[in-house]
Parts: sequence; C-alpha cells; structure tokens
Amino acid sequence: MGFIKYFREEAEIIKERDPAIKSKWEVLLYPSFWAIWKYRKAHKHYKKGHFFRARYISQKAARKTGIEIHPGAQIGKGFFIDHGHGVIIGETTVIGDNVTLYQGVTLGGTGKETGKRHPTIEDNVMISAGAKILGSFTIGENSKIGAGSVVLNEVPPNSTVVGVPGRVIKQDNVRIPRVDLDQVHLPDPVKLEFEDIRREIEKLKERL
Ligand SMILES: CC(C)(COP(=O)(O)OP(=O)(O)OC[C@H]1O[C@@H](n2cnc3c(N)ncnc32)[C@H](O)[C@@H]1OP(=O)(O)O)[C@@H](O)C(=O)NCCC(=O)NCCS
Repeated sequence: MGFIKYFREEAEIIKERDPAIKSKWEVLLYPSFWAIWKYRKAHKHYKKGHFFRARYISQKAARKTGIEIHPGAQIGKGFFIDHGHGVIIGETTVIGDNVTLYQGVTLGGTGKETGKRHPTIEDNVMISAGAKILGSFTIGENSKIGAGSVVLNEVPPNSTVVGVPGRVIKQDNVRIPRVDLDQVHLPDPVKLEFEDIRREIEKLKERL
C-alpha cells in the first residue's frame, strides 16, 4: 500500500476511535501511525526470510515510537494503538480486524511455551491501558480487556475481563455474578481440634 492511501485509511481509523484528534494532519503525530507503517514494511521482509532487515526496521521504529511490534506478528485491517508507549507485540501474535490497544499493553508469552507462544486477538477487541495478555490462547471477538488486567486464559467472544488474574465479569452484556469467598464465617481450626480431642477422651472414658 502506498503512503497516501495508508495516511487516508489511518486518518479515518483515528478520527473514529480517538475523540482528541482535531485535524487529519495530527495523524502524522501519532506514534501508532509510524509504528504500524514500519511494521507493515518489516513484515514483508520477515515473510521473505530477511529476518535481520525486518528486525532492524522494527527495532528502529520501537526506539522512535515506544511501540515494539515483532515483524513476525500477523495484524489485520483497522488496527489502532492509542498513545502507544510501552506496547509490546510478540512474534507469534495474530491480530484480527479493527482491534484497538492502549499504552502499556503486552501481547506476550509466558516463557513456558514453544512454537505459537503469543495470543490470538479476534476482530473488534479492545485491550485497555497496561493490560498483559500472556500465552497462546484466543481473546474472542468483540471482547474488552480492562485496564491493568493480566489475562492468562482463553476469553469467549463478547466478554469483558478485568482483574489479576483476569476474570470474565460480563458476557453478551450480562453481568456474571462473583463467587466470593466468605471471609467472615470461616471455621475455627483450634476449636475443631479441641472438639476432636474431646470426642477421643469420651471414647477412652467409655472403654475404661
Ligand atoms: C474494562 C472496561 C472497558 C469495563 O467497562 P464496563 O463494561 O463499562 O464495566 P463497568 O464500568 O460497568 O465495571 C464493571 C465492574 O468491573 C470493575 N472494573 C472495571 N474496570 C476495571 C479494571 N480495569 N480493573 C478492575 N476492575 C474493574 C468495576 O469496578 C465494576 O465492579 P463492581 O461491579 O464490583 O462495581 C473499563 O473499566 C476499562 O478498564 N477501561 C479502560 C480504558 C482505557 O484503557 N483507557 C485509557 C485511556 S488513556
């Protein structure tokens, strides 16, 4: 894709998703604009097996934008990273269409897997500031991941996930009730132990 066409497409995407933009020329000031442009170039080199050239482009872009996208990642149309600093996207990540990320998002591995180590993000997913998605599972389409969440397992489509570790709090717009541990009515282990001892003594008395 040529630069002018890319600029027009990005201007539309950013105007739609960032209410802070005032004119299409501001698009040129978005780190996301340059990071994705460089990623598309680096990815072409990666596919041809020019791994050094690909990494050279992506690392140079990472230094300038604060967004590190591995050239091996596969990214669909309509991708947008708002603010962007501290975003890391790993080599085997697969991202669908119209996905939005905010600053500080990691799409990474756990260090325990080989081969496909990074997540698959389906269409129309939003991943909020500082969220970490770690492992080779799928985040289902139209899902939202809350700020600061750490997601370690598969997320079904149309879900909202928050917390550490991340848990689904809404699915298909319906709240999922939280199963809380009762912190008040806990058993008293000392009392239970005394009751056991008392029963043993009763039994011994009877035998005597
Ligand atoms: C995930 C998010 C989109 C959820 O929005 P939502 O579906 O409207 O959810 P609600 O606001 O109704 O919150 C539902 C529950 O989740 C909790 N919650 C929401 N976001 C949370 C988060 N990031 N971490 C922990 N809990 C969270 C709320 O406190 C609420 O809990 P309660 O029912 O016990 O009161 C939103 O909270 C979020 O994290 N947005 C961040 C966007 C962002 O990154 N902005 C940066 C711009 S620079």
